[in-house]
Amino acid sequence: MKILVTGGAGYIASHTNVLLLEKGYEVVALDNLCNSCEESIKRVEELTGKKIKFYKGDCRDKTLLRKIFSENKIDAVIHFAGLKAVGESCKKPLLYYDNNLNSNMALASVMSEFDCKKLVFSSSATVYGTPKSLPLTEKCLLGVTEEYPLGVTNPYGATKLMGEQMFRDFYAADKEWNIMLLRYFNPVGAHESGRIGEDPKGIPNNLMPYVSQVAVGKLDCLSVFGDDYPTPDGTGVRDYIHVVDLAEAHIKAVEHIDGCGVAVYNIGTGTGYSVLDMVKAFEKACGHKIPYKICPRRSGDVPACYANCDKAAKELGFTAVRNLDDMCRDLWKWQSLNPNGYNN
Ligand code: NAD
Ligand code: UD1
Repeated sequence: MKILVTGGAGYIASHTNVLLLEKGYEVVALDNLCNSCEESIKRVEELTGKKIKFYKGDCRDKTLLRKIFSENKIDAVIHFAGLKAVGESCKKPLLYYDNNLNSNMALASVMSEFDCKKLVFSSSATVYGTPKSLPLTEKCLLGVTEEYPLGVTNPYGATKLMGEQMFRDFYAADKEWNIMLLRYFNPVGAHESGRIGEDPKGIPNNLMPYVSQVAVGKLDCLSVFGDDYPTPDGTGVRDYIHVVDLAEAHIKAVEHIDGCGVAVYNIGTGTGYSVLDMVKAFEKACGHKIPYKICPRRSGDVPACYANCDKAAKELGFTAVRNLDDMCRDLWKWQSLNPNGYNN
């Protein structure tokens, strides 16, 4: 079975590609490398001893998509390509709507032309906006406000929610589609080899890449955004999932895609950890203290967010198996072996 992986050089895609290749799928990857580099593709090939057919280009480019579908008999698409920085999306909403939504439309249109109608889409827990109750089930209502009538709190989140809606509409109009919408919670960690991992450009926005760069001495001190939330230790609580578990969820999605219609799944662990829990766990993994200071809350953050994962367990047979120590151990291995990411 041949899978087109868009955003195929990125963080989650590279881990998914390893599993796909190990399980005997053929991988065709498309990426414009706007937030990644080709080295990740090479390392996946090294790890698996198998080849990826790589196309460098933009997912909005229908001519290129037609070339890819003409040159390869694609059975299904895993669509990771997208921009994902929340803060940047607030400053450059046009860039986010253009990139993320036009990629969906170009891809779906060319898939239709080539009668390839199986798609796994990277959605996000961000579609839940500010949770009204926890844990979040797939049916949780959105906290709609006048400013954000969609319920999400930023343009990035809006592109994910609109993306989900687009794919539901495509299915409603053509029941030959089979579409899995996967709402990821907070992916962290790296492949256990330490050869592939997350390589953020510039100063990381997300907690664990920041912590690991403090641990390796690239950054001085972690800012903990708020210690007065209504959580056990006052710091924000999230559902962190090992990226290799998340990659496994994609394999399960592909295995269960036939006849799924449109299906939406939370992909997390169901357990919430606070910022200080994460710092402590990472200190254990790296063997030394992580300097941190308590700072004001970051605007747009929610106090706590974690998943109810029953639906994915029941219908996809997916349950995350890696724990917090595994996440921190593997992230530390990646960070310490590759202090400058892929540019060593
Ligand atoms: P990433 O930035 O590492 O991967 C995305 C890849 O898409 C990058 O390699 C980038 O170069 C590529 N890309 C972006 N726009 C493109 C375009 N127009 N054409 C071709 N390639 C393009 O990010 P990731 O963490 O691996 O995320 C993958 C997907 O999962 C994204 O859609 C993201 O929004 C979603 N997601 C991520 C998280 C997270 O915390 N990492 C959480 C929820 C959802
Ligand atoms: C962020 C995005 C979310 C996206 C997710 C996955 C925001 C508001 N939300 O989620 O849309 O789907 O990433 O990429 O950006 N923290 C610190 N110090 C730091 C960084 C983070 O204390 O330097 C805290 C945050 O306040 C939060 C927790 O750590 O409580 C996790 O933050 P982060 O890793 O950025 O993820 P989210 O905010 O959950």
